[in-house]
Amino acid sequence: MTERKRILTGIRPTGALHLGHYAGALENWVRLQHDYETYFLIADYQVSDYADDIKRVRDAVWEVALDWLSVGLDPEGSSFVIESLVPEHTELATWLGWFLPVAMLERNPTLKAEMAAMEEPEEGQERKPVPVAFYTYPVMQVSNILLPRAHLVPVGEDQLPHIELTRETARRFNHRFKEVFPEPEALVGRVARLVGTDGNAKMSKSRGNTIDLKDDAATVSRKVKRMYAGPPRELDEPGNVQDNPIFLYLDAFDPDTDAVAGLKDDYGKSGVPNKVLKDRLTQVLNDRLDPFRERRAYYEARMPLVRESLEAGTNRMRIIARETMEMARDALDLNYLGKY
Ligand code: TRP
Repeated sequence: MTERKRILTGIRPTGALHLGHYAGALENWVRLQHDYETYFLIADYQVSDYADDIKRVRDAVWEVALDWLSVGLDPEGSSFVIESLVPEHTELATWLGWFLPVAMLERNPTLKAEMAAMEEPEEGQERKPVPVAFYTYPVMQVSNILLPRAHLVPVGEDQLPHIELTRETARRFNHRFKEVFPEPEALVGRVARLVGTDGNAKMSKSRGNTIDLKDDAATVSRKVKRMYAGPPRELDEPGNVQDNPIFLYLDAFDPDTDAVAGLKDDYGKSGVPNKVLKDRLTQVLNDRLDPFRERRAYYEARMPLVRESLEAGTNRMRIIARETMEMARDALDLNYLGKY
């Protein structure tokens, strides 16, 4: 039997996951989990921006695990891993730091944008100093991916620079020492970036423009009612499909593509009231979320199962982690005590 290729991917534990996470990544994870040996990481080293709210991180570890179970990730066929309980991540990151020029971090567009947002915040937001651990989080992420020697990293679009950094690091290491690390490929989800309910280009918790996977039907209905639906129009005034983000959501989640195409046509010609679009979207989203809600209720009533998922997955990762560290030390010829 040939060994299955490996997937490693992760999420930061900062709170509830939303539809943007789902369409951009989780949906792919569910689809791929049985064809690969899969590790899903809760990246609790990567939340230095929440250092003043560790309780939130602690709660979010459980929240993420529940979200994963509710969308149908299988905790037995795949492994749920708590990053900080696998200390080899830190160990490997330290060695890898030897081969990652600071200039490579400084060129990383995702890191650059995030640091700029901390140092020069938008109006009304507080300026935060950048912690050392924030600056080096991409190194930790490289280590996350290389530790299980992963082949594929299904992620949202904003993560691509980190995957590129990982590929570059693997190449350098393999070239200078020994072939230890596969050069991992990135895979972006069907909807690279979902707009927020306020029409902002990105759905994100900090903007408060999300629809969460755990929202109940009434909450979804309320959020959709308040959604930004393009510039004001009279009820039957034709509109521009591109100006109305409701269509982006229908494109992302409505299984009846013909019906959506028909609505777009009508919208441009005779106009369709936003209420019609929003009622449809509410239905579509609730149909999607219903099975998630059912699974969530099952696990919420059995939290020890959630704990077991985290524990078993983390233990499986530790086994590979030790194996990889041995390979890496051997490649680096760092087995000092073997000398005499
Ligand atoms: N940085 C990712 C995010 O913000 C989370 C993450 C941590 C990750 N480690 C990873 C993603 C390793 C892919 C692979 O969503």
